[in-house]
Amino acid sequence: MQADLPLLHDFSLASLNTFRIPARARHYLRVDGAAELDTVRRDPALAGLPRLVLGGGSNMLFTRDFEGIVLHMTGVGKEVLGEQDGRILVRAKAGENWHAFVQWTLAQGLGGLENLSLIPGTVGAAPIQNVGAYGTETRDVFHSLTAYDMASGEVCTLGAAACRFAYRDSIFKHPEGRDLVVLDVTFALPASWSPNLRYAELARAVEEAGLASPTPQDIGRTVEAIRRRKLPDPAEIGNAGSFFKNPVVSREHCARLLAEFPLLVHHAQADGSEKLAAGWLIDQCGWKGRALGAAGVYPKQALVLVNLGGATGEEVVRLARAIQADVKAKYGVELEPEPVFI
Ligand code: EPU
Repeated sequence: MQADLPLLHDFSLASLNTFRIPARARHYLRVDGAAELDTVRRDPALAGLPRLVLGGGSNMLFTRDFEGIVLHMTGVGKEVLGEQDGRILVRAKAGENWHAFVQWTLAQGLGGLENLSLIPGTVGAAPIQNVGAYGTETRDVFHSLTAYDMASGEVCTLGAAACRFAYRDSIFKHPEGRDLVVLDVTFALPASWSPNLRYAELARAVEEAGLASPTPQDIGRTVEAIRRRKLPDPAEIGNAGSFFKNPVVSREHCARLLAEFPLLVHHAQADGSEKLAAGWLIDQCGWKGRALGAAGVYPKQALVLVNLGGATGEEVVRLARAIQADVKAKYGVELEPEPVFI
């Protein structure tokens, strides 16, 4: 193995995943940029190992120790690149904390990311998950990213089309993108900003706060307040945000459910399908606030599973499977987990 790499062994990941599951990594490396990845790729003892790229650890559930190499993306740095076609380009390295980055753009007087305030995780993870909240998705403000290709050893630039963004999805979650490690992300923010109040709950909160002509900072603060009210702070209670994606069903399936459950929460999609609220389905099955062992359903938001203290990954999986079975039995709907299971 390369002696010049600060590789650590049998390394605890407990503080590096927001669920705070006490998993360990066989090998662990802090990665600032392409140079370390290049060294790993060229080292015969490391190149063939299973790899796990880690950002803020806010979207993964460890069900076992990781018998490979964890590449922890810790490179930081951010800059305003300038204006292009009526948009301001801003670039940040993968290891930047997402919320701190959002706040920094707002402090520069740049709007566009405020609806994505307080989302746990790092800049590098935002495009992988096409992170979204309160009416804005990463793809709406995305310009391009650079990634290191662990197969070819090349650094490549990907635009939005190449990233194949979809709901909580991108090429990086599929086999074709498996070798790509995001190094930095460039965002395109509007030079002339107007608030995005498409999400009803946010529009209501802005109105209630008496914000007639809100600034990007006002919207950011409002989003933070909503999130603090409903979502557990991972610094206090281990969790990974929404544990399930909102399921999409056919119009016919939705109509059948509505006949039986008139209060069903649903949103028509552009392609004619219907997106259901997983939180509502789980709540209706009576799971809100319940627990199995040390894994529980957050009492204020049924979409979020929490570590009540000392939970193992298997305990969280057991709870998730029980919820999935109940929702399937009552509504005929399959809930798909949002975090990656390791
Ligand atoms: N609901 C209940 N009971 C609950 C939770 C929700 O009845 O315990 C109902 C709500 O009243 C509402 C509906 O279900 O009518 C939807 O609930 P909510 O607005 O809380 O959640 P969501 O809109 O489905 C999504 C994202 C969140 C994101 C919010 C805001 C997913 C899976 N979740 O939630 O993302 O913050 O919208 O945009 O897409 C995340 O991905 O980690 C995440 C937190």
